[in-house]
Amino acid sequence: MKNYKSKIKNTLITEEEIKEKIKQAGEFINSIYDGNPILLTGILNGSFMFMADLCRNVTVPCEVGFMKASSYYNGTVSAGNVSITLDLAQDISRYHVVIAEDIIDTGRTLKEVTEILRKRNPLSLHVITLLDKPSRRVVDFKADMSLFTIPDKFVIGYGLDCGEYYRNLPYIAEYKE
Ligand code: IMP
Ligand code: MG
Repeated sequence: MKNYKSKIKNTLITEEEIKEKIKQAGEFINSIYDGNPILLTGILNGSFMFMADLCRNVTVPCEVGFMKASSYYNGTVSAGNVSITLDLAQDISRYHVVIAEDIIDTGRTLKEVTEILRKRNPLSLHVITLLDKPSRRVVDFKADMSLFTIPDKFVIGYGLDCGEYYRNLPYIAEYKE
């Protein structure tokens, strides 16, 4: 693919920095749930790498599940409406649910997803996001834990894509528009 490598600008967050923060996120989960079982829920596709590393730092009994919500249609610009295209199979009224998200941008995806999940009466619901761009919020939404707060830049790697590429980069980089 033409220009593939030249679109990867400077590294914003290294593998080591990610690893260290995810360790802290695991400790946060272990301290909150104190031995109670959880349903760690990843929002696909962006959270797949984060989920894989986060769950390895969880020591409370842990099931994993995935949901898919799409809000990005036009390259790097959010189209606004959110739809759930893959749902959890579990009846979450029996679970403490912990959502793992790659990034909170406008806040629309997680506001919608958490409203849907709350209506199903989970035992509890917490949101952990790897990245947070608070300056871009359109709707009011705050995660229980944000591992990195970043400026208004489009980023790729460690699960995050541009046009479905770059998810496999092991670090987070700025995308050269
Ligand atoms: P929100 O609904 O606007 O908060 O956006 C959530 C989704 O948009 C995220 O889960 C990502 O999939 C995508 N997204 C937002 N910002 C970025 C970015 O900088 N790089 C890659 N994907 C992004
Ligand atoms: Mg996402």
